[in-house]
Amino acid sequence: MNLGPAVTGPGPSHRGEYPPGSPEAGQRQGIKGQYVVLGEGVSIGEGTSIWNLVYIGSRVTIGSGVTIASLVHIASDVTIGDGTMIEGSTFIASNSRIGRDCFIGPGVVTTDDPFPPVRRTTGIAAWPGVTIEDGAIVCAGARIKAGVVIGRRAVVGMGAVVIEDVPPETVVAGVPARSVYSRQVYDQRQMEAAIEWRLQRSSDTTFEQKPVRL
Ligand SMILES: CC(C)(COP(=O)(O)OP(=O)(O)OC[C@H]1O[C@@H](n2cnc3c(N)ncnc32)[C@H](O)[C@@H]1OP(=O)(O)O)[C@@H](O)C(=O)NCCC(=O)NCCS
Repeated sequence: MNLGPAVTGPGPSHRGEYPPGSPEAGQRQGIKGQYVVLGEGVSIGEGTSIWNLVYIGSRVTIGSGVTIASLVHIASDVTIGDGTMIEGSTFIASNSRIGRDCFIGPGVVTTDDPFPPVRRTTGIAAWPGVTIEDGAIVCAGARIKAGVVIGRRAVVGMGAVVIEDVPPETVVAGVPARSVYSRQVYDQRQMEAAIEWRLQRSSDTTFEQKPVRL
């Protein structure tokens, strides 16, 4: 597979082909997948996992215990806090700040240019990305406007378009996103869903009864 200059251009790059424990693998800590492209000055904390076909731009700082799923694009000058999970096909805009223990669902789009392509005249560094504070959850396919702050432990529902700051501990959904209930209610529903799922699994014997066909 020829990926052209993207993996062979300036700055370190990695094809995920170093054996675990080799000096090269040590320098590329956390890279579990193949075809991961790193810009210059990327820092990756201990226990972090980065999967296939991920692009990480220059000066990105990734904390410890972070998971970055396949096909994620992280632009330059981003920080990601410890324990955060970023699901597949998500775009993290330049100059974004993501806190600790956040969950960013699949197909989320954050933005850094309010009137594209204004960055052509001002330069990328002039524009803020988004800020996602500690413990926040951004569900599948949400879109977040440049400069918006998603507050601590806030939740953004799937498919939302977020055009203004979200207060801490608040769940928002819809287009444009509006408050639907509190994080306390969300946590309660999450716990109830988990209990219901476990009950269903414990009473479901179909897995044991079905013969395995190869
Ligand atoms: C935010 C979320 C948790 C709310 O789920 P819920 O508690 O079951 O919500 P309800 O169905 O009780 O809806 C509550 C209200 O919010 C609205 N609402 C809920 N989710 C919505 C959404 N994603 N977009 C728009 N409105 C939504 C409902 O219409 C309802 O409005 P009403 O009170 O005026 O009738 C859910 O929509 C969601 O985004 N789940 C995450 C899925 C996901 O991305 N997982 C990632 C891994 S794949």
